Amino acid sequence: MTQLEVEIENLSKGGFDHFMQKEIFEQPLTVMNSMRGRLNFESGQILLGGFQANIPFMRNARRIMFISCGTSLNACLAVRPLYDELVHVPISVENASDFLDRRPAVFRDDVCIFVSQSGETADTLRAMEYVEERGALLVGFTNTVGSTISHKTHFGAHLNAGPEIGVASTKAFTSQIVVMTLVALLLSDDVKSMQPRRQEIINGLGTLSSLIANALADLDKQMQELALRLKNAKSVLVLGRGYQLATAMEAALKIKELT
Ligand code: F6R
Repeated sequence: MTQLEVEIENLSKGGFDHFMQKEIFEQPLTVMNSMRGRLNFESGQILLGGFQANIPFMRNARRIMFISCGTSLNACLAVRPLYDELVHVPISVENASDFLDRRPAVFRDDVCIFVSQSGETADTLRAMEYVEERGALLVGFTNTVGSTISHKTHFGAHLNAGPEIGVASTKAFTSQIVVMTLVALLLSDDVKSMQPRRQEIINGLGTLSSLIANALADLDKQMQELALRLKNAKSVLVLGRGYQLATAMEAALKIKELT
């Protein structure tokens, strides 16, 4: 048995009505915590302990497959265009349950990245066992120290978003996007032609926290009004493409889960 020591104030709602609301408002801080000590904004250098030794293998992999469920899957969809742009390895994003139904070919030179807030989602774990039997390199991004995925993957990175108590995932989603973006930057730091684009992304990460804080301050009241207008709707269609495909998928998932 593992006993986790969690500060009591981390488990209180801190003046908010719901844990989910509290966690949404924590994001200016949690995205910074996911970058802290990992990204040097001046030099553009990325430090991600477990990754350093495996970068050559990842750059020469047959494929990089992201495998996960729900919101974590949407975070993978959110970074896919970035990987397509920066990393010259074929990328696929797999829904863990569909992946298990299809049982596709997996090779020893594949890199399989498992993304999970809890690190314990059953379909994601089964998919991990499936690719492990086939000898692929296993990488994990979880928000839960001591979880099965953090134990059983070869290496990975902790999201550092703090405990997510709300059942609907929020701050873990943005931290997953941040950490996977850092890995894309790391994998492309040797390509000269990519440096202007990398610098643009690094500058963007530097302003992310204040942009989120401003969006939360500006939009909170508007969102409450929108919710009142939508609450009796029979259906809601959320549209998005390109970088915003994942945003639309995640908005639709959140509305489905919470209504
Ligand atoms: C979304 C949500 C679920 C989870 C999914 C995966 O708000 O809570 O859809 O995202 O069950 O969970 P993890 O990330 O723990 O593997």
